[in-house]
Amino acid sequence: MTRSIRPLVAGNWKMNGLKADLAIAAEVAKGYDAEFAGAVDLAICPPASLLYPTSVALIGSRIATGGQDCSTQASGAFTGEISAAMLADAGGTFAIVGHSERRTLHGESNATVKAKAEAAQKARIVPIVCVGETKDEREAGKALAMVKKQLRGSLPEGSTAATLVVAYEPVWAIGTGLTPTAADVAEMHEAIRTELARLLGKAAAAGVRLLYGGSVKPSNAAELMNVANVDGALVGGASLKAGDFLAIARACA
Ligand code: PGA
Repeated sequence: MTRSIRPLVAGNWKMNGLKADLAIAAEVAKGYDAEFAGAVDLAICPPASLLYPTSVALIGSRIATGGQDCSTQASGAFTGEISAAMLADAGGTFAIVGHSERRTLHGESNATVKAKAEAAQKARIVPIVCVGETKDEREAGKALAMVKKQLRGSLPEGSTAATLVVAYEPVWAIGTGLTPTAADVAEMHEAIRTELARLLGKAAAAGVRLLYGGSVKPSNAAELMNVANVDGALVGGASLKAGDFLAIARACA
């Protein structure tokens, strides 16, 4: 953790969740008492179809909501897309952009991710910009270089601690049950902080929340969240179980 930074634990439901699953959000809200809320921020990023009802279900809970993607465009003839302003209109305050599943399955380049992050910021949505190396890149000793390259290409200029969150998600750790060692996470997060200082200036870099994501579970959360420069988690699978999500958040608090 970074002592001066308030941690954020964000749940990425991916393409999971029907109306009945609003009960998960309600259960998370029930467990997020005032003392808990004093120590860690929570956000839930459900599928777009559930963003508005999730935001409504969480009114009064201090739990934020967000989208899992947003368009580079503000509005218009872009069938199937959702704009950052629409996320805001549905009560969202965050948008995950550049998730590895978008980068891989939808061919999103760093330039696209940057344009999405800029579109989010324009609509006063905080982008959670995801970066992370593949297994081959890690094995070739290129993890740090690849992630720095993604940061250089994906982050909007002028981002501040209030307008940007970065999530380090090694592609090989997502949904696999595998996680990097604490030492590898420490090395990567320190490198990200240093690169942010170069790109955005020292003040912004010192305050931007750097989340770790990839197979975070209640059983490994304490170890991962205790690593220097880890300011929270981006949680996939475990965010679909209220008890697990809360246990991970508690490890941050
Ligand atoms: P996981 O996913 O926690 O299921 O590994 C993380 C993510 O993709 O954000």
